[in-house]
Amino acid sequence: MSEILLGVKNLNVSYFNTKVVSNIYFNIFKGETYALVGESGCGKSTIASSIMRTLPEIAHIDADSQILYYASPHPVDLLKVPEYEFSNNFRWREIAMVPQGALNSLNPTIRIKDHFMETARAHNLDKKEALEKAWKLLEAVKLDPHRVLSLYPIEMSGGMKQRVLIALALLLNPKLLILDEPTTALDVLTQREILIMLNELKAKYGLTYMLISHDIALVADIADRVAIIYAGRIVEESNVENIFYNPKHPYTIGLLKAVLKLGEFREPETIPGSTPDYRKLPPGCKFHPRCPFAMDICRREEPPFIEVEKDHFVSCWLYAKR
Ligand SMILES: Nc1ncnc2c1ncn2[C@@H]1O[C@H](COP(=O)(O)OP(=O)(O)OP(=O)(O)O)[C@@H](O)[C@H]1O
Ligand code: SF4
Ligand SMILES: [Mg+2]
Repeated sequence: MSEILLGVKNLNVSYFNTKVVSNIYFNIFKGETYALVGESGCGKSTIASSIMRTLPEIAHIDADSQILYYASPHPVDLLKVPEYEFSNNFRWREIAMVPQGALNSLNPTIRIKDHFMETARAHNLDKKEALEKAWKLLEAVKLDPHRVLSLYPIEMSGGMKQRVLIALALLLNPKLLILDEPTTALDVLTQREILIMLNELKAKYGLTYMLISHDIALVADIADRVAIIYAGRIVEESNVENIFYNPKHPYTIGLLKAVLKLGEFREPETIPGSTPDYRKLPPGCKFHPRCPFAMDICRREEPPFIEVEKDHFVSCWLYAKR
């Protein structure tokens, strides 16, 4: 039986008074790569920032939401831990994140070595120990530490910067690494290299990943389980094989039809319509205005999240009993 590392329960998040993440439940098991996939604006980064507690002040998490972290046999609700305790004991030490668009977050005026030293100083790490760790981590992300530590960010390619960011995130030995769109800004070959490196890194350090991507094809190569998100809700969740070879939700099927396989010569199909405006979400199933199978009940009632086969969950009236 796999052990849970993180359990998100009934997560509801609003910006001002607009709810963008609704009733999210998922578990991440130790050692796995759990992927969140969905179109732009579906709430992926909001979920990640809720876990890291880095949401902007205008965001509000409902009081009965829980993010349980199983560091010891007794889970800790990360949303209830005081901020000083969270930043001393959990953020970066237990759970680290490479945020979306982080390539530009490296300070262009300081060398990579000093990025590591600043992180070490902020967390009271011994300088010598931190430098030794930085050296090992840079080697693990397939960079030459001797050269890279003395470089300024501007002297590095996007792929090199992403590797440095991943190494920096691992400086305090976190167990869970959240990767928010880790390869989006990179060319296809560099994307592949980063994915291979991430798989090696995970095995070497016994890491658990939460991977966020709008690109369903990309997660096929790295994820163990996948949650498909639409309008701030998980609409399907299963292992990667079921999601790719036996998808159930019309939205998942639409996402997969938009991807061309090698040697396939056809126009990629797009999902008609656009992502909904959170201020005017439709009643019932939020996907119904775009769904080719929409029925009367879909326009009235939100479908329940049901298990259609072992460990394969879907929220769609095509599979649920009325
Ligand atoms: N700071 C903010 N203030 C107001 N609304 C926000 C804020 N950040 C996000 N949102 C809204 O919340 C919704 C979810 O955004 P989020 O960034 O979580 O989506 P995402 O799935 O990560 O998208 P992308 O793939 O583009 O990164 C969007 O409608 C977005 O406009
Ligand atoms: S519940 Fe209805 S509208 Fe929603 S995805 Fe299923 S069939 Fe389509
Ligand atoms: Mg995002």
